[in-house]
Amino acid sequence: MCGIVGYIGPKDAQAVLMVGLEKLEYRGYDSAGIATLHRGELGVRKREGKLRRLADLLDNQPLSGRIGIGHTRWATHGEPSDANAHPHTDADEHLAIVHNGVIENYLQLRDELETAGHVFRSDTDSEVLAHLISDYLDDGLPPERALLSTYSRLDGYFALAVISESFPETIYAIRQGPPLVIGLGEGENFLASDTNALLRFTKRVVFVEDGQVVALTADGARIIDREGRPVERTERTISLGEQQLDKGDYPHFMLKEIYEQPDIIENVFLTRVSNHRDIAFQNLRLSPQQLNKVSRVVIQAAGTSWHAGLIGKYLLEQFVRLHVEVDVSSEFRYRNPVLGGDTLVMAISQSGETADTLAGIREAKSKFIKVLSLVNVEGSTIDRESDAVVHLHAGPEIGVASTKAYTAEVVALILLTTIWGRLKYVIDDEGVRRLLTELEAVPAKLRRILALDGQIRELAKQFYESPVFFFIGRGYNYPTALEGALKLKEISYIHATGYPAGELKHGPIALIEKDTPVVALTTQGPTYQKTLSNVAEVRARGGRIICIATEGDEEITKVADHVIHIPACAEELSPLLTVVPLQLLSYHIAVLRGCDVDRPRNLAKSVTVE
Ligand code: AGP
Repeated sequence: MCGIVGYIGPKDAQAVLMVGLEKLEYRGYDSAGIATLHRGELGVRKREGKLRRLADLLDNQPLSGRIGIGHTRWATHGEPSDANAHPHTDADEHLAIVHNGVIENYLQLRDELETAGHVFRSDTDSEVLAHLISDYLDDGLPPERALLSTYSRLDGYFALAVISESFPETIYAIRQGPPLVIGLGEGENFLASDTNALLRFTKRVVFVEDGQVVALTADGARIIDREGRPVERTERTISLGEQQLDKGDYPHFMLKEIYEQPDIIENVFLTRVSNHRDIAFQNLRLSPQQLNKVSRVVIQAAGTSWHAGLIGKYLLEQFVRLHVEVDVSSEFRYRNPVLGGDTLVMAISQSGETADTLAGIREAKSKFIKVLSLVNVEGSTIDRESDAVVHLHAGPEIGVASTKAYTAEVVALILLTTIWGRLKYVIDDEGVRRLLTELEAVPAKLRRILALDGQIRELAKQFYESPVFFFIGRGYNYPTALEGALKLKEISYIHATGYPAGELKHGPIALIEKDTPVVALTTQGPTYQKTLSNVAEVRARGGRIICIATEGDEEITKVADHVIHIPACAEELSPLLTVVPLQLLSYHIAVLRGCDVDRPRNLAKSVTVE
């Protein structure tokens, strides 16, 4: 939800921190700030608004120093403002902290501190950290003890970094929940919320685990646990290149990522499938015997990943004949789910840091249930805490609205279903070959859909001022309808709702009036005629119908106001195709409405708060 960076070494800290914050701005962007130490003196600059405003401030009032911390914020407590922006300082402004997460007992701590005479400058929960650490230092505790004592007082989840005039050559940090990663250089070291902020400087990283405290100097990183015991650290090398974090000639990351989908699916197919029969998952870590024992799957995820989970339900029920339940993580984690020995919990997450999904994994593991995760960011917390993983290999997804990760999640589910269905003898070799041949043809079909971009942009011009939108579909098209609605609402701020097409007449159709736009997913399939009837019901009440239909279907033109024809494909793979016109429609509507497509208001790319 927020982005943290830290630097210590021979370079100008301000410059390094601003590069890091720019790469983390997708994590939260309602305010930003940095703090540095120069000749033993702390300096702080922070501003409400996008990172550009902080950069403007620093142009006029730069900070010197070779050690510093920075933060880009997604507000949890306290509105976006200069005062609530991080870094926060202690009373004497000798110490500064940046924080990602929520200090759940901050009110109690704040009362205690105010009673002791502390004066607070912000409405945030984070500010209590600066005062607490400072108090322990003033009591004479050495820095590590001051950090551990502060840590012992905190409830909630937090990644924090702190610098102080009393330890001018060290950045201290704590991880309890939101991610934190160390970047290792030569005579310099870095700290960040995720590896995107480090790529320009180093590919050598150490992922900080929960319950660890870091002391970072220019010469190295010392890690201790909550009891102060040294912890062995595992160094890894990042495979990503910084150019993958660039939007190139595209106006927005989201459009670039929409257009990347054919290549990504092609690459996954080429690297995972051979002879239209064999499928390789390097880290599945579930033996055929373990997979065979499973008779029930519970899929838990959030947002777009939850929609992919719904597609997974249809696939696993159809091709593996398993009992499948799909739940949003924020519900799953609190309902004390019934999980038996035959159950496998599956988590789906692009970021691998979604707090609710991570908590769902921990809930399952507390009941000794195996967890298989489909995750894009390798080395993320979900990646590291799951028993088995399928990496999506979609590359970094920077646009807050998930697109390529969603189709990569569906591809992973299709491949997993194929392996599993074959293992359970629900599908035979011919069935496997059919599915894989269909999947191999998807990238070319996607490129033909992307060629409709101009037509979709023209369509957007007719609808971008609509205050409401409905998306309807049946079967595999139902989760796609939900996904289309989410895309539109999160980047254009239009009230968009997705419904099972058969559900409209049970209430929602009361909302249809003249010119209400309804996007209907009417690709050829077993429920095509039923969906057409639902379209007719909407049209009879004045709704304006946009149909996503199969090439060659002319009947649809009799009931629709607008038709986007897409290539035919097997029904079970259709979510890979039908979602793309909806992604493009949402994108163009948002652009026409002047919205910040890559950084929509109120949102952040990785939801690491609950
Ligand atoms: C999708 O466009 C949204 N940004 C959001 O719903 C997202 O899918 C959700 O927060 C889950 O994120 P994850 O896949 O990283 O766990």
